[in-house]
Amino acid sequence: MSETIEKPPLEHLAIIMDGNGRWAKRRGLPRTAGHQRGVEVVTKVVDECVNRGIRFLSLFAFSSENWGRPRPEIDVLMGLLLQFLASQQQKMLSEGIRLRVIGDSSRLSQPIQDALADAERATAQGQTLTLVLALSYGGRDEIMRAAKRVAQESLAGRLDIDQLDNRSFSRFLDTGDIPEPDLLIRTSGEVRISNFLLWQAAYAELYFTDVLWPDFDAEELQKALDEYLCRKRRFGLTDDQLGCSQEIND
Ligand code: IPE
Ligand code: IPE
Ligand code: MG
Repeated sequence: MSETIEKPPLEHLAIIMDGNGRWAKRRGLPRTAGHQRGVEVVTKVVDECVNRGIRFLSLFAFSSENWGRPRPEIDVLMGLLLQFLASQQQKMLSEGIRLRVIGDSSRLSQPIQDALADAERATAQGQTLTLVLALSYGGRDEIMRAAKRVAQESLAGRLDIDQLDNRSFSRFLDTGDIPEPDLLIRTSGEVRISNFLLWQAAYAELYFTDVLWPDFDAEELQKALDEYLCRKRRFGLTDDQLGCSQEIND
């Protein structure tokens, strides 16, 4: 028997955009050429998500560990970020895209912090897609910062630790009111999380592709979305318990 019942739509897509350096190296170009191309792919993937009605797109753009890279490469990445913000702000406004930044922004330079704050403020009313940029972001660092804030609130008498649960703790994370990712894509053939959304991706479907980020396109995105539709998400429950919210195909 084969019965198809419509699944809830994919609300939140998260991507670990990896492989820029290898893409450039294969072409005899400097790593920074891969980053440049990677930014162009970001704008295309944002368009694809808007067209498909995806509500949240989280992009891992710079990790807390990436601070250990050579300074010139970091400077190029930060320059590309500034260019991206300047070139996309108008489009984000006209298309209703809201920018949200997660990560330890205190490590970013003041001009970058200011540009990000401006863009977040300007696009705050966007209703179409929330673009979550993970910058200077590490999952462990985020959980640690949240734990410190919880401790501070408790010491100040504003929080009863006995009342703390998964839901209320997650409000202290940078992602606060953002739903958890449904699908997490990583490009470039590496099969690891690299400290991205450690808490939030607890039940995300994981999709790994060998395609390097600068070669990622609408077709590759569609492959990942098609694969997601074939996955059966159980969240620890049994098939019978899931009932009609999942596809029954047996
Ligand atoms: C991803 O590409 C971009 C960032 C981490 C900033 P990489 O720069 O990691 O490229 P590879 O993995 O070295 O090919
Ligand atoms: C993960 O890629 C971080 C980003 C995509 C921003 P990395 O290239 O830094 O990850 P590792 O070092 O291969 O795990
Ligand atoms: Mg990499």
